[in-house]
Amino acid sequence: MSERDLPIRSELERIPPYNSGLTLAEVRARYKVETISKLGSNENPLGSSQKVTDCLASPGDLFRLYPDPQGKALCEAIAIKFGVLPGQVVLGNGSEDLIGVICSAAVRDGDVVTTLYPSFPLHEDYAVLMGGKVERITVRPDLEIDFPALLAAARRAPRMVMFSNPMNPVGSWLRRDEMRDIIDAVSEDTLLVIDEAYVEYAEGEDYASALEDLKASSKNWIILRTFSKAYGLAGLRIGFAITGDRRLTDYLNRARTPFNTNAIAQAAALAALGDGEHLRETVDLAIRERERVARELASRGYRIAPSRGNFIFFDCGGDAVKFSETLLGKGVITKPWKQEGFDTFVRVSLGLRSENDHFLASLP
Ligand SMILES: Cc1ncc(COP(=O)(O)O)c(C=O)c1O
Repeated sequence: MSERDLPIRSELERIPPYNSGLTLAEVRARYKVETISKLGSNENPLGSSQKVTDCLASPGDLFRLYPDPQGKALCEAIAIKFGVLPGQVVLGNGSEDLIGVICSAAVRDGDVVTTLYPSFPLHEDYAVLMGGKVERITVRPDLEIDFPALLAAARRAPRMVMFSNPMNPVGSWLRRDEMRDIIDAVSEDTLLVIDEAYVEYAEGEDYASALEDLKASSKNWIILRTFSKAYGLAGLRIGFAITGDRRLTDYLNRARTPFNTNAIAQAAALAALGDGEHLRETVDLAIRERERVARELASRGYRIAPSRGNFIFFDCGGDAVKFSETLLGKGVITKPWKQEGFDTFVRVSLGLRSENDHFLASLP
């Protein structure tokens, strides 16, 4: 077939395909392994709450009818839990959907979007798609966030500052006082988007969600959360945004597709939100295993990043793709990082103790 130009935006040339990794079925077929430990996508090894299973056992009209396009019941429950108004909540088909919605609503040709690097790729990709220019704030050699550089960038009044805290893939985090400084530093022309996909695993001494400080500020802000990680609903695709301004919510609602979250996901998320015990078990397991796996990796000489997520980012000392391929042959799925400057790094999710043991035993 001859190569001819397609009627497609040129920005797409600059967006690499998303590195989603292999599915269980693909690994089974390709590597002929019996036991697979899926530690590449930061999913919840305990699965979702029994309350979710119970609620989906009798779906009633969930399949037949269109979902509530606003997801009112879920938005109200989220609003109560986080002390905001329902009008501050927007649902997304996963928080990745909302990253796209936010960029399409806010980023114009040539706008600067500041993010941390190595990045969650979608924080860059949707900004690039809208014609934005991404400014990367690279982590320091010790893999901590370069706070002074981030602060200086925030002061330059970019259109958007968007990053995850704790950050993915590295796992390092901004302390509460540092986050307050970033909030103070952004101008009224900047949209500050804090992606808190891993917040549940991070709460502790020197970390806090930015929500309370943002609520007390007069800046333009959005917090992103997901049900894919600690709530164990990655397959259902549901996340949400909390915005600082009712008008911002209205614009995001206009920019998204009307039925972007399905009825099953809305019902499941509502049930999951009501199971604090399952959340506690999930977080306790991840924290316990985070300490153990980090200790083991360090004792074998790997350079590891500090982590407050349900994953560990470490330098495998060579080509990360080859390293992960070796692990795949033994039934362990990890994520080799492919961004420039970090292609000797691998991100491994924290699974069940037995899965983490499988990973440790498979290391070369
Ligand atoms: C930082 C961050 N934000 C957003 C997402 C997307 O999550 P969701 O499954 O809600 O789309 C992920 C998923 O890995 C993530 O790591």
